[in-house]
Amino acid sequence: AAVVEHIFQVKNVVVKPLCKEQRIPTVNGSLPGPAINVREGDTLVVHVINNSTYNITIHWHGVFQLKSSWMDGVNMITQCPIQPRNNFTYRFDITGQEGTLLWHAHVVNLRATLHGALIIRPRSGRPYPFSKPYKEVPLVFEQWWDADIELLNSRPAPISDAYLINGLAGDSYPCSKNRMFKLRVVQGKTYLLRIINAALNTHLFFKIASHNVTVVSVDAVYTTPYVSDVMILTPGQTVDALLTADQPIGTYYMSISPYTGANSIVPVPPSNPTQSLIIYEGAKSTPSPSSPLMPSGRNAISTAHRFSSNITSLEGGPYWTPVPRHVDEKMFVTMGLGLNPCPPGTKCIGPFGQVYAGSLNNRSFVIPRTISLQEAYFYNISGVYTDDFPSQPPMKFDYANFRVRTNSEYKMMFPERRTSVKTLKYNSTVEIIVQNTGIISAESHPMHLHGFNFYVLGYGFGNYDRIRDARKLNLVNPQMHNTVGVPPGGWVVLRFIANNPGAWMFHCHMDAHLPYGIIMVFVVQNGPTPNTRLQPPPSNLPQCTRDPTIYES
Ligand code: C2O
Repeated sequence: AAVVEHIFQVKNVVVKPLCKEQRIPTVNGSLPGPAINVREGDTLVVHVINNSTYNITIHWHGVFQLKSSWMDGVNMITQCPIQPRNNFTYRFDITGQEGTLLWHAHVVNLRATLHGALIIRPRSGRPYPFSKPYKEVPLVFEQWWDADIELLNSRPAPISDAYLINGLAGDSYPCSKNRMFKLRVVQGKTYLLRIINAALNTHLFFKIASHNVTVVSVDAVYTTPYVSDVMILTPGQTVDALLTADQPIGTYYMSISPYTGANSIVPVPPSNPTQSLIIYEGAKSTPSPSSPLMPSGRNAISTAHRFSSNITSLEGGPYWTPVPRHVDEKMFVTMGLGLNPCPPGTKCIGPFGQVYAGSLNNRSFVIPRTISLQEAYFYNISGVYTDDFPSQPPMKFDYANFRVRTNSEYKMMFPERRTSVKTLKYNSTVEIIVQNTGIISAESHPMHLHGFNFYVLGYGFGNYDRIRDARKLNLVNPQMHNTVGVPPGGWVVLRFIANNPGAWMFHCHMDAHLPYGIIMVFVVQNGPTPNTRLQPPPSNLPQCTRDPTIYES
């Protein structure tokens, strides 16, 4: 195992993906930021030097952080932000996982431009559980705004202007004609596409003209090989897929397009697909067919559902562990949008003149302001959070078809603003049924858990039924994820083992829903041995000043 060291210079630079120049924070001046390549078992050391004008943290999305929860990089949950002209070094081991993940800023909306690939290959001498590809190609999907990045904080945020593939908008956008990502391939060879959806707020379909791909891994967990002509990734999800250049020599479009589900209140993102090219050696560079490729319709719920629910884990593959049958902690968590009172002195445009809010079990999470939640836990500082996140919603209702009929149903539209956590015993098995509600709007929410992968035992539509649906759960080879799209007006059943002490966020990975409060935090208690206890924070962990810039929630 090696020590892999990087320097992340965070600085503002001017870029112009479309027709308008915009000043954005970047890592080392590039969009997307640098890719990190490690092998399983390595130690990753990243020196973050903040020469930008923003408070930042860097999060290693999907990394287990076993015994290193102080390195999770979540603003006000595991650390105060790194302020301008300050530095912090992240240092952690990468163990027990292989595949494609991402790193991104975890402060307000800064992950819009501060993100990049995090690629974990097997330790030397260990093969992939599929035949070795000829080449590996990271594809980072991004969302771009011509608007000033500060405006992304406003509610509702401005509508994005383009999607990018590896920083390029392609020929269906203005001022972007010849700026298209081009993958040159040799006929007959197989390529491993390492695909990352780093978009802030949009699920994306991905498709290659005339080619199928074979999915071999999702969220850095090996899958049973799954052949598909289209795929979908929620914000924060990653897919590794094999592409064989098995078509006639030519040039083909490779495109992404948005998925919003039905009846979404999310501001309408651009609907044009973003194109990139696969160019076979010896081919002309005009694509065939030459018309732009539309991966799927924006409302194609069944296409999205088919791809997401058909994936299974590679049983017996590297790092595979069977699903635990005994559950210690059962939770039923309703999730969705609601409303908060309009702050005095502002003009609010939500229904009933309110602002949108989001909630889990009718709690809207409020980010601590003075000290990180994990420091408050570690040092036993009271008044920062309460240990009373409910395992059930406050009342039963028709979740998937919400209608206001009674006073208490009306109340369900107005979540309580709290900083509440759920405490878990070390090594307990937790099952969470996440029920998407139709309060205000029905859309898919990508729920992301820090520090752990969870089994996704099932996906479905409507209200989860404890008898009918429980019978259909996959306890044999369910897919594993760190981020799962909860279907619009539907549910997922998740299971994970809380084997890592610390404070771990569980939240919607649509960035716009973080200030709404679709967040909760699990505090996993210490285990019995010194090795399973939360260690003191590193001595140089950034400290909060009087005015940390944080999520306004
Ligand atoms: Cu990808 Cu909480 O983050």
